[in-house]
Amino acid sequence: MGKIFEEANKLLKGKYKFFTTPGHKQGKGYLKFKNILRYDLTEVFGLDNLHKPTECIKDSLNELSEFYGSKKSYYLLNGSTSGIQIMIFSVFNEFDEVLIERGCHVSIMNSIFLRKLKVNYINREIYNVDLLLPDEFSKIDYRDENIILNNIKDCIHKNPKIKGVILTNPNYYGFYINQKEIYEYLRKKNIFLLIDSAHGAHIKAFNKTLECPNKFCDISVMSAHKTLAAFTQGAYLHVNNEKFIDKVDEYFSIFTTTSPSYLTMISLEKSLEDCKNYFKRKDVLLKRCNNFKKHINRDAYMYAIENSHIYCKSNGNFYYDDTRICLKFKFKNLNSKDLYDYLFRKKIICEMIFFNGIVLIPTIYTKVKDLKYLESKLKKFDYNFKENYIFELVLKACEAKYEKKIEPYEVKDRKYRFIKFKESVGKISFNDIFLYPPGVPIIFRGEKILIEHIVLINEYKKLCYDVNGLFKDEYVKIVEE
Ligand SMILES: Cc1ncc(COP(=O)(O)O)c(C=O)c1O
Repeated sequence: MGKIFEEANKLLKGKYKFFTTPGHKQGKGYLKFKNILRYDLTEVFGLDNLHKPTECIKDSLNELSEFYGSKKSYYLLNGSTSGIQIMIFSVFNEFDEVLIERGCHVSIMNSIFLRKLKVNYINREIYNVDLLLPDEFSKIDYRDENIILNNIKDCIHKNPKIKGVILTNPNYYGFYINQKEIYEYLRKKNIFLLIDSAHGAHIKAFNKTLECPNKFCDISVMSAHKTLAAFTQGAYLHVNNEKFIDKVDEYFSIFTTTSPSYLTMISLEKSLEDCKNYFKRKDVLLKRCNNFKKHINRDAYMYAIENSHIYCKSNGNFYYDDTRICLKFKFKNLNSKDLYDYLFRKKIICEMIFFNGIVLIPTIYTKVKDLKYLESKLKKFDYNFKENYIFELVLKACEAKYEKKIEPYEVKDRKYRFIKFKESVGKISFNDIFLYPPGVPIIFRGEKILIEHIVLINEYKKLCYDVNGLFKDEYVKIVEE
């Protein structure tokens, strides 16, 4: 076998505990399936066609739609990324205005670029950062009870041409917002609400304390491979607004492979079955996670984010999906990479690091003993690692006044050149620059590069974060002016 197989095999032989996607946890969700590879079929004669379903796929999709309460639902075989492309192409025409969050995933930016949309931002990232900092660093006044809604209203007031809003709910960290009032407001204005719920496929079944992110919106996407048992790339697309069904059908065919994998479709259907079976049961996963959090939160240095805390702290503006584990340091500026690496040495793989902690994804296939193991290793973590200045820098970058110089799609037709990143203040970035994971741009294409961005990204580099969008690690592509 080849190099990729060898590496994957090496990792698996290490007997790690995976707190990452995919949600089936290295096949634990498929123990009853024998010879699963036999089902690696595509649209041969005798089977239904995903592009024009009339039989088994149609029935299965009807069940999906019924469970999530949509007008029509689709199985996606190229992740939420393809669903985001489909929904953006279906709702917007070229040169329409869209409102997105700073803090959105890069796949949203890519689709906006392809569809040639004019982009407006609300600064959601500032709340994400504030909620991830230790409490004593928190600066935001949350007395306003509708922070996100009011930000949206402000933007729409300034730019009444906005045709649609795209929000992420919940996000990578597990922060969740109530969509109902936002949706009601936007409906009155005839503005569409699209939801990137890449991290929310499980909520309806596995966290009944929150409303399903598909409930109050026009279209939503969900990465079933992240939090359910679908194979990597398996995702759901739900349309609630009938007026878009034709368009979505059309773009679904354009963006979907002509060789749909039955294996992935079967895994998407199995994920739905898991949800349906679990729906009537008690929230076992939630209980397990809450139990874990209770124990961890006795620790003097570390804190596992909880709904009750986020809800109170943000005065009801934000909630937390307690089936996610997001650990943050309680005090100053430790390097989360040290924690990530320590856990890796202890055979625990986490989903991602951020400036003040790490994110882990448990699912119903995570065993209680794995959570206990994680707890025991966290308790032995040595906090005597070196400090850094990341909090101050992240805050400054978030507060800095970003400036869109040209639309993202206009960048494509402009000439570019490479210059040293450290010398790029005031220049227009030719591409997005982001940490991966989570894939949230710090600098968006078409935007002026600020000194605050450079200082922050350099600090991330020093701390060994994976920065995308730089070339040979020290050059940046800028638009010729
Ligand atoms: C918030 C968010 N949206 C969209 C995506 C893209 O999802 P997928 O990997 O299913 O294409 C991701 C992936 O990490 C994500 O975190």
